[in-house]
Amino acid sequence: MSVKGYENEIYALQTRHTSYIIRVGEDRIPENVYWGKRIDRIEDFAGEASPAPVNMQAPHCLREECASFGGMRFKESSMKVCFADGVRDFRIGRVYVETEENRLELVLEDECYPFRVRLCYEVFEEEDVIKKWRIVENTGEAPVVLERIFSAQFGLPGTGYESLNYNGRWGMEFQAVSEKITSGKKVYESFHGLTAHGNNPVFIVHKGLEEPFRENQGEVWFGSLEYSGNFKTIVEAVDAGFLNIVIGINDTDFAWTLKSGESFEAPAVYAGYTDGGLEDMSHRMHRFCRRHLMPSGLADKPLPVLYNSWYSTAFDVKCEEQIALAEKAARLGVELFVVDDGWFVGREHDRAGLGDWYVDRKKFPQGLKPLTEAVRGLGMRFGLWIEPEMVNPESRLYRLHPDWIYRYQTREVLMGRNQYILDMSRQEVLEYLAECLDTLLSENDISYIKWDMNRYASEMASGGLPAEEWKSLWHRHSLGVQWLINTLREKHPEVEFEACAAGGGRVDYGAMRRFDEYWPSDNTDPLDRLFIQENYSHLYPVKYMRAWLTDDFGMDGRKIPLSFAMHSAMCGSLGIGTDLNRTSEEKREEIKGYVETYKRIRNTVQLGELYRLRSLKNSDIQCVQYVGDGQSAVFVFLDHERYGDPLQSITLRGLKEDSLYRFVLDDREIVKSGAYLMQAGIGLRLCGDYDSRLLILEEINA
Ligand code: GLA
Repeated sequence: MSVKGYENEIYALQTRHTSYIIRVGEDRIPENVYWGKRIDRIEDFAGEASPAPVNMQAPHCLREECASFGGMRFKESSMKVCFADGVRDFRIGRVYVETEENRLELVLEDECYPFRVRLCYEVFEEEDVIKKWRIVENTGEAPVVLERIFSAQFGLPGTGYESLNYNGRWGMEFQAVSEKITSGKKVYESFHGLTAHGNNPVFIVHKGLEEPFRENQGEVWFGSLEYSGNFKTIVEAVDAGFLNIVIGINDTDFAWTLKSGESFEAPAVYAGYTDGGLEDMSHRMHRFCRRHLMPSGLADKPLPVLYNSWYSTAFDVKCEEQIALAEKAARLGVELFVVDDGWFVGREHDRAGLGDWYVDRKKFPQGLKPLTEAVRGLGMRFGLWIEPEMVNPESRLYRLHPDWIYRYQTREVLMGRNQYILDMSRQEVLEYLAECLDTLLSENDISYIKWDMNRYASEMASGGLPAEEWKSLWHRHSLGVQWLINTLREKHPEVEFEACAAGGGRVDYGAMRRFDEYWPSDNTDPLDRLFIQENYSHLYPVKYMRAWLTDDFGMDGRKIPLSFAMHSAMCGSLGIGTDLNRTSEEKREEIKGYVETYKRIRNTVQLGELYRLRSLKNSDIQCVQYVGDGQSAVFVFLDHERYGDPLQSITLRGLKEDSLYRFVLDDREIVKSGAYLMQAGIGLRLCGDYDSRLLILEEINA
């Protein structure tokens, strides 16, 4: 039993190593009285009133599970409702509690309005994760407007916490920033219509992590929202001496009317605590994601090595040329051949074609068949790129249905990358897309789809809804996307889906629930990627991270040797995007060698445990280690040598102390014990610019 109750007062969510204790006292306000290392004797928490500073009003001082706006509380709330008569607070009249094996539900009923909130909890004992979400129900006749309906609220006692989130933009995703929250509040959010490239819908709050060794020591409280859309996370130092954390759907330009009998379910947050630093947080969440979040078909299988045409042919996609690319890709050991943008009607450039998901007969006179057959014949599977939520003004779809986009009728519609956003709140739009894409998948031998989303949203107004409901459109868009991907997955369960949004614009647990993998950034510079990949891996599993080799690294104009570039891409789910038609035979042979090596270690990389041993952010080298069954892979990167000092020493982690490991270092075979490798370490010689090594350690007596 991972959920326990005591005397109708204390409720404990117990995981293997942690306890989350909720108290419902005489005031009927559920409050979190403890979240940390496991405590078995839950009765110890009974009768313990929360200490409130002098002259301070409860409930402001309580670490509430669901603070609703209003009353004597001035901290950030996680809910704001407006009843039909203008009353804008919610007061708990009665609380019903239901417990099951690993579930808890606290039902809070308003004292006089027919309205209730169900606070739902589920415990994943093995993985040390708790799930929190909530459902609100209008049980009366009159409508109720939800002005804020976050998913969860957390409180941590005392002060001195730091909050880590990401700051970024296109091509520069996942730049981790950690700041002390001593007063006021920190807001991380998106109102771009999707998660976007800046902040991420998570919270990571920590104490005692010290640079540069913050990886495996210190306490961390973390949570991640299962939502792809506008989100808000607020981390607030409350004057009553605690940290208040709320997370959920962004309330900026949000309003949702609950009619009589209707309910609203806010997306789930998966949260945990560890005293083992960021490393342990990642291990727990990677495991959890693979077991409970990612689509089950591929979650525990390694992903194929893919080839993608984007960086070589862009929009200029021709059947014969793609076949020639496919032949060369197959010789490298590629297992999945993907044609990116440019294959559909009118898509000569990024100003036309989106919305018309039909094969361009000018480029493919006999349809896709000659290409898909050639790809199959070469022993690979075939995939395509799509961007379903979008339409170019220059398309058949837009000419037929100019009203199928979000727009204000009185204004010119704004464009991003020459495209409009389809109104995914309209069922007819969803039906059109579902039918079109279902036909595409049914009529062609396609086993992979890359689903892109290349612009931020604006002017959320729909001809299909009365103006007073337009503030619900941000959320309706997310629901529409969910419906579409769910529908396609149901009809085509064998197809592998990759998510992308101009690179890392939709990295969140909502996307992870529906996609097998993610394209974290359009920036393929192998050095920049090391930083993006390092931070991405905090909460997102390695196998969910596509990483490719390309010719032109795009952003920084650096010249980086193939070995460093391949090693950087081999740290995730490997792909190749170089223009093989313009690559020398010699270079292709070299790439082939790396692909072979990657296949030797890919189970370890994609499904093993990740250790971020060293980071170029605060060390001379970057070093990542993966530990799998009987094998460990260690990548070491040097960007430039400093002060004529080429020697580096690294100590490994996660090995078995008593086992022996064999590996080759600079052509020498070495055998060492796990204890030696983890305590004394390995000495390496890296020199010059962009030097790198891959060590593959095989456990001898495994
Ligand atoms: C976006 C994606 C790229 C590529 C292009 C195609 O930028 O992030 O990977 O697919 O679109 O237009």
